[in-house]
Amino acid sequence: MSGDALAELAVRRGFFFGSNGAYGGTAGFYTFGPQGAALKRNVEDAWRDRFTIREGNREIEGPTVMPEAVFEASGHLEGFDDMLVECPECGASHRADHLVEDATAIADAEALPGGEVEELIRDNEIACPACGTPLAGEPVEAFNLMFATDIGPGDGQPGYLRPETAQGIFVEFPRLKEYARGSLPFGITQIGPAYRNEISPRGGLLRLREFTQAELEQFIDPEEDEPPLDRVRDVAVRLYPATEQEADDGGYLDTTVGEAVDAGVVGSPWVGYYLGVAQEWYERVGVDPDRFRFRQHLAGERAHYAADCWDAESEVDGDWIEIAGFAYRGDYDLSKHDEYGDDAFTVFKRYDEPKTVERATVDPDMSVLGPEFGGDAAAVADALEALAGRDPGAFDGETVSVEIGDEETGDPRTVAVDADVANFSVEEVTESGEHITPHVVEPSFGVGRTVQTLLAHAYREDEVDGEARTYLSLDPAVAPQDAAVFPLVTNDERLTELADEVADDLRAAGLAVAHDDSGSIGRRYRRQDEVGTPFCVTVDRDGIEREGPDTVTVRERDSAAQVRIPVAELADELAALCSGGSFAAVEAEYGAVDAGVETAGN
Ligand code: GAP
Repeated sequence: MSGDALAELAVRRGFFFGSNGAYGGTAGFYTFGPQGAALKRNVEDAWRDRFTIREGNREIEGPTVMPEAVFEASGHLEGFDDMLVECPECGASHRADHLVEDATAIADAEALPGGEVEELIRDNEIACPACGTPLAGEPVEAFNLMFATDIGPGDGQPGYLRPETAQGIFVEFPRLKEYARGSLPFGITQIGPAYRNEISPRGGLLRLREFTQAELEQFIDPEEDEPPLDRVRDVAVRLYPATEQEADDGGYLDTTVGEAVDAGVVGSPWVGYYLGVAQEWYERVGVDPDRFRFRQHLAGERAHYAADCWDAESEVDGDWIEIAGFAYRGDYDLSKHDEYGDDAFTVFKRYDEPKTVERATVDPDMSVLGPEFGGDAAAVADALEALAGRDPGAFDGETVSVEIGDEETGDPRTVAVDADVANFSVEEVTESGEHITPHVVEPSFGVGRTVQTLLAHAYREDEVDGEARTYLSLDPAVAPQDAAVFPLVTNDERLTELADEVADDLRAAGLAVAHDDSGSIGRRYRRQDEVGTPFCVTVDRDGIEREGPDTVTVRERDSAAQVRIPVAELADELAALCSGGSFAAVEAEYGAVDAGVETAGN
């Protein structure tokens, strides 16, 4: 199926479409229509169920606007850039690395320095895709992807729309660790919008300026905590390690999670664990395993915070797209916030037994330091204290040198202090534990890209009763609607009333149900097939005139097979089918009917 066919279906059937069409449209922003919003919500609920509830994690919901200081600490202000080149003729903006990748065999131009990308543009005679003007000689600039804003009126505080939901979890760590009673490991999730001012948004939901992420930050003690790897040890995964990508004849490694971790192909058991959980989850919601793989980042490709990273990738319209990332972030984030923030981004790790240790300390004589260093005396005392912990041998000589920031200019300067004035000593102390900075393992999912993958992988074309049809073979767990109810004809009051009652009963049982009485029954089936409704219920005369309880026909989308089920049992049967029950078993219980209602009706 082509991307165009999916885009056309997405608009026509109310999955998603470009936003603000009445005002010319705004590139990079999409609105989910009724079917798309329901599908997206079901994907989010399925993710929440698997990654929050079943893992015993906790979910939070933080603000989308955060102050500049957060992004100074996280490194986004400094380094969250893409390479921008602008056309001198038409003014169009382009991702310079993407232009190079499209025009050459280079797969990872993002990892190259800007100057090298400029040379590649020149040497490969790359032209503006919009108007054909050569881009040789145009500067490639770093463009920060964050949307800036002001918090409050006037000279309010500078702020940014969050570029990842993760930072909303990291900055609240000091409080979140208390809810976890200070004990590792624990995981916090967040599902919500993230914003990136992408240079060239493209591909429907694939590269947007506002999109939804579902992220899990797993906080661990790297020395002690092990994941429950046995739960996913036998899960089959298709890996594409960096070494295979770099080899001339490299290929996939079809293996299991356990083998990949044991062999060190996946370095962190925690990352391996979540690859296994994700593999099972993606298959559960309907990703085709034959069009899915985990690809390891090449060294130059990794984000500034990641020590190792694997992407979940799906094949859509002939291209591999990243739908999730699994990064080992180490202590990068918490250390940075510890350094910049006012709270402690550490946890206290209690020893099994108290330990007696030697601790070097100083007790500087301030009556000497004060007159000698004036306003800098306290800074000198602090620097001596820090040096004692770091390098006790520095106090062996007659003088000790420490670096302080000058009180007036802030510039660093080195000062010498008489060793006797420092009053250096080594004491024995008993410690019950230590403060450690947890490491972070982060599975980070793009919800829109998952939605687009599910649609692409569920798209089918076949023939029913000699007629071509298009349908979405969506799993009932995520399909926008569980069922649709039709009266076979609309000019029969008993049928229309019963159809209304049946729809109400099913809704009361918690099912998402559409009601459709417009056009022939065949057309109504086609409409539901195209939005992936797994079951259609038709209320017909036969079902109310025959002996015994009232019955309706239930048609299963993919096979177009039908069974006749008593109305009184319908809600339970459909609820079971939507929770993964087998239609063949229902057919065996009630007996298949021929597809007579497929073409009948008004
Ligand atoms: N906290 C880690 C992080 O944000 P990322 O790889 O930049 O990592 C995670 O993003 C996921 O978010 C991606 O795998 C992708 O599915 C989705 N994503 C990222 N940028 C996107 C964009 N501009 N439009 C749609 N989805 C995007």
